Amino acid sequence: EHTKTPYEEIGGADAVRALVEAFYPRVQAHPLLKPIFPENIEPVMEKQTLFLTQFLGGPALYTDRYGHPMLRARHLPFPITPARAEAWLACMHEALDEVGITGPVREALWARLVMAAHHMVNTDQ
Ligand code: HEM
Repeated sequence: EHTKTPYEEIGGADAVRALVEAFYPRVQAHPLLKPIFPENIEPVMEKQTLFLTQFLGGPALYTDRYGHPMLRARHLPFPITPARAEAWLACMHEALDEVGITGPVREALWARLVMAAHHMVNTDQ
C-alpha cells in the first residue's frame, strides 16, 4: 500500500494517452499554435506522452529516452509569446475537461502546468 502518484490517480498510461490525444487536435486547430507545430504531430504526441508520464510521477520514460527534459531550452527555437502560453493552457484545459480529469489531482496538475507554460515564454511577440 502506498500513496498513489498523480499518474496512478488519473488512470495511468491510458489516461495520459487520452489526454495527449485530446490536446493536440486543439493545438493544431488553434490559430496561434498551429504555425509553430510541425504538420506531422505524431512525434510530438509521442514525446509529450513520455514527458507527462514522468511529470505526473509515473516512470521516467522521457528522461530514459531523451535525457534531462530542459524544456525551456528545448522550446527556445519556437517563439513562445504570452498569448501562445495562454493558448496552450486553454487547449490543455479543454483536453483535461474532455478526458474528465477532475478534483484535487486536476487542481494540482493545473497549477504546475500554468507555471510551466509561463516559464516557457521566451519572447514578447
Ligand atoms: C515540444 C510549443 C508549453 C512540453 C514543443 C514544440 C513546440 C511547443 C512548438 C516542438 C514541436 C517540434 O518538435 O517541432 C509549446 C508552446 C507552449 C508549450 C507554444 C506554451 C507555453 C509546454 C509545456 C510543456 C511542454 C507547459 C510541459 C508541461 C513539451 C514537450 C515537447 C514539446 C515534452 C517535446 C520536447 C522534445 O523535443 O523532446 N512544444 N509548448 N510544452 N513541448 Fe511544448
